[in-house]
Amino acid sequence: MNAGLARTLALRHGTPLYAYDLGEVTNRAAELFSALPEGSSVCYSFKANPLPAVARRLRECGARAEVTSAGELGAALSAGFTGEQILFGGPGKTEAELEAALTAGVRLFSSESLRDLACLSAACLRHSCEAAVLLRVNPEDAPDARLAMSGVESQFGFAEPLLLAPEARGLVRQPGLQLAGVHVYFGTQVAGVEALVTNTRRALECAQRVEEALGFQSRIVNAGGGFPWPYANDLAPAPLDGLREKLDEVWQASAFARRGAELWFESGRRLCAGSGWLIARVLDIKAFPGRTFVILDTGIHHLGGMAGLGRVPRGALTVVNLGRDVTAEPMMMVDLVGPLCTPLDALGRGVRIPQVQPGDLVGIPNVGAYGLTASLLGFLSHAPPVEVTHEGGREAEAWRMNHGHALLAAKSSP
Ligand SMILES: Cc1ncc(COP(=O)(O)O)c(C=O)c1O
Repeated sequence: MNAGLARTLALRHGTPLYAYDLGEVTNRAAELFSALPEGSSVCYSFKANPLPAVARRLRECGARAEVTSAGELGAALSAGFTGEQILFGGPGKTEAELEAALTAGVRLFSSESLRDLACLSAACLRHSCEAAVLLRVNPEDAPDARLAMSGVESQFGFAEPLLLAPEARGLVRQPGLQLAGVHVYFGTQVAGVEALVTNTRRALECAQRVEEALGFQSRIVNAGGGFPWPYANDLAPAPLDGLREKLDEVWQASAFARRGAELWFESGRRLCAGSGWLIARVLDIKAFPGRTFVILDTGIHHLGGMAGLGRVPRGALTVVNLGRDVTAEPMMMVDLVGPLCTPLDALGRGVRIPQVQPGDLVGIPNVGAYGLTASLLGFLSHAPPVEVTHEGGREAEAWRMNHGHALLAAKSSP
């Protein structure tokens, strides 16, 4: 992050502030697309960052959209995605979400259970339309991912044995639905090229087992992804060198490629994490004999609220002093905490940061994914930070999430 631009944005919009570099989004998209077999599709996972300005850039770069709620659907539409470019997935879809998706022209869903299929079928009949379905499968193979969602017991997808059972053939065929393929998502933060290739091969093998058992031919195999990127630190990202050739080999050897099916992937963090910085101000410093607390105007309500999911920085946290040059001064060992009234509000404990004093502007890199909307935004009712996009050193757009309570009904007393 250019320190001058950070200071300008902080002056203009106040702190805390999220700043996303759209040029970086473009670069990351180009890198990922060129690391995948030619002709494959990438769905941008809105859960990583639903800010329409970031998603719009990814649409312009050629991504599809992968959404899992009415809110993400709205963000995708506002980013300019059409219904045909959107894949709607996620466990526990509601009738209202399916209605909203069909009304928006979405015709491709990832279905996670027989009940999910039945609800989609009923919604399609109400809309007098047909929808294509990817069956999300939880394969029996153990995944190679740091945050595993398949290959272990989880709430995601059909357990593979359920789909391989003889009675499944009839059960998955429901009115208004056309079986279009298989979706496997092994997990996120997959370590590197070898693991990504292994997972993709396993996803294709699983898709083959499933389609043979159910007696249909996939036209799409969504092999997931899990493409890694550092979170809230400046460690080097795992390179994707050689991935295209290895994936291509796996894909070309599959029956799917021979029959002209499409290979899809999903990615959130790899596409947008590197674009984002959280810029904050040091409010206070409290020094004890053995411990120093640096209190920021941001905390787990803006970053790292998903501690329980292992997505928060634990130790490996990078902080940069954006306000002044402190390179000649010694580093500090501190607990970096926020303004919430809970001792849990810590971005990092015992972390080494550059010298700071109250009033300094600081920045945390690589938080363009799973930042604001993955946090405890409502807790203690601080306003959401402004989110700014910029490119070539200039501000592009400034956004702020809606926040606070709106009175919906008030019954007068008898
Ligand atoms: C089904 C599914 N697809 C895509 C993603 C995006 O993962 P990432 O941002 O690591 O690419 C996730 C993350 O949890 C997911 O659960």
